[in-house]
Amino acid sequence: MRLLENNIQSYDFYIEKENMRDEIIKGLSAPVKTIYSKFLYDHRGSELFELITELEEYYPTRTEMKIFNEKIQEITLAVGDVHTLIEYGSGSSNKIKALLHNFASLKEYVPIDISREYLFQSSLELAMLFPHIKIKAVCGDYTGPLTLPLEAEGKKVIFFPGSTIGNFEPVEVRNFLMKSAKLLDDGDGFLIGVDTKKDTVTLERAYDDAKGITAAFNLNLLTRMNRELGANFNEDQFEHLAYYNEQQGRIEMHLESQRNQTVKIGENEFFFQEGETIHTENSYKYSIGQFQTMALECGFKPRKVWTDAEEKFSVHYLEK
Ligand SMILES: C[S@@+](CC[C@H](N)C(=O)[O-])C[C@H]1O[C@@H](n2cnc3c(N)ncnc32)[C@H](O)[C@@H]1O
Repeated sequence: MRLLENNIQSYDFYIEKENMRDEIIKGLSAPVKTIYSKFLYDHRGSELFELITELEEYYPTRTEMKIFNEKIQEITLAVGDVHTLIEYGSGSSNKIKALLHNFASLKEYVPIDISREYLFQSSLELAMLFPHIKIKAVCGDYTGPLTLPLEAEGKKVIFFPGSTIGNFEPVEVRNFLMKSAKLLDDGDGFLIGVDTKKDTVTLERAYDDAKGITAAFNLNLLTRMNRELGANFNEDQFEHLAYYNEQQGRIEMHLESQRNQTVKIGENEFFFQEGETIHTENSYKYSIGQFQTMALECGFKPRKVWTDAEEKFSVHYLEK
């Protein structure tokens, strides 16, 4: 634990290189080459993701922020006298800024993110804006075991915006909700942003923008593997691919090999045929009813849900 400012402590639970090398080699050795989307977020990946959130095509951030701004009074009422707020995948912490002004009883805020520098940088900014709140910035992988440094007594609420839950497989969503429920006491809450099902054109534009920022975000994974794992990917020989898989109800992002080629990561060699892909991200879309059913099955009562007029995005308040 390190003290960064009077009201901020940092906890570093993530051992990047070892975890990353093993998981990536395992993923690239599978019959369908796959890399977990969490590896898209090095510092550059986090910067590129921030640029994505500002794109005209990327409706989720804009729509979710609009819901937070327009429904803030109802959200504050539902959340009640929260003392501890835990945020999964806090990134720039922009969304929480809009809420913290209203959560008057809040004593501690625990942002968790895998992107270290980005997390500590945004937590420092928050610490200056909210000197009365204790901030405990946790660098870690929320899909693994994590012991959170929680201190305050009283109501806890988990915040998980951005539809990051969509990156999990449905079975993983259930495990994650059940694991989260164990962190909470009866009456505690879970405030979560979930992207809804919609037409394919809107979805595919959101993940393949005209300026090529999402492509750069996806391709940055290759640059990261070259830098951090000593791999020899040629970024020019792969292309960004994003499409809606209707049957699975998810956007898929891939990196497509443009020719037959062999890539090395240390001693490990991986052969790619022309057109073969590395599956780098899923983004599942859920109807409101579908998500509420899953939450109910995992120990949460759906208390409230807010959407925009077109139901492009949903924000759920669940109670344990
Ligand atoms: C889709 S972005 C959302 C960022 C922000 N919460 C928002 O709503 O705009 C996902 C965030 O989760 C973080 N992240 C992804 N997988 C993670 C994991 N397994 N453990 C911790 N953080 C993770 C990324 O670094 C990134 O900041």
